[in-house]
Amino acid sequence: MIFASLDPDAPHFETWLGDYASYLDFYTGQSEAGMEFRGPQRWRVEANWKIGAENFMGDIYHTPHTHASVVDIELFGEPKPYKRKEGVLWRAGPGGGTTYKLPPGGDFRSGLAYVGYPDEMIDRMAVTLSPPQRALVDEPGFMPSASTLFPNLSFVHNWPQTDADGRITPFISVRLWQPVGPGETEVYSWFCVAADAPDDYKAASYKACLMCFGSSGMFEQDDVENWVSITTMARGSMARNLLLNNRMGLTLDGEPIADQFEGFGGPGTAYQGFGEHNQRH
Ligand SMILES: [Fe+2]
Repeated sequence: MIFASLDPDAPHFETWLGDYASYLDFYTGQSEAGMEFRGPQRWRVEANWKIGAENFMGDIYHTPHTHASVVDIELFGEPKPYKRKEGVLWRAGPGGGTTYKLPPGGDFRSGLAYVGYPDEMIDRMAVTLSPPQRALVDEPGFMPSASTLFPNLSFVHNWPQTDADGRITPFISVRLWQPVGPGETEVYSWFCVAADAPDDYKAASYKACLMCFGSSGMFEQDDVENWVSITTMARGSMARNLLLNNRMGLTLDGEPIADQFEGFGGPGTAYQGFGEHNQRH
């Protein structure tokens, strides 16, 4: 991955990333052999680019409803409302994201095994991830899912069922929301996997990714339906005369309803429950 800026006064990249860097490693730092990228798939959607960025940054309240059919067919067990509310929304540096809460009583190794990583990949992550990063997955067990690095780069980490025997396989997708105009976005979607992962894992993970995200992905098609509708409605006469209400999780005085969640362990700030903390951030 190459990051560049045309601004001669831009801060050093790692300074700008700040605490977000710690979360970036969950997507791109799974092995000392580095990560292998496939793609990108590229396609255009009639939606504003900021909607995808916001969605991946912390929209956990859409999942139980928008993706209900994905749960119905048992492709994926996790978007149930209680599962999403038990995870935390975290924000750190110029980004933020979501986690799922793993079953209680687990640790770093069992958490990664639960979402489908084979032992040899867990061994490598135990080396590349630092003690504070491992602590995130350790008791109390938060597994990073989607996140956005401001302004338009997002990541997703999920673990659907990939065969009829119920095998669960995680995948990582990296996506760029490239504006074409206010009402159109070109989406770039890469599949990303540890370069030294076992071949059968790579095949299953690639399949998992294509089933969920990208131009053939069931999650992607659910999401884009919303994003196109939102973009269309935002042009309407009512929307032009009303302020956007993104106060979910705030009191009337503008204070967070949910206090900061203290049991998280990762850098930055974390909240549990539904809220638009990250979108406001
Ligand atoms: Fe979604």
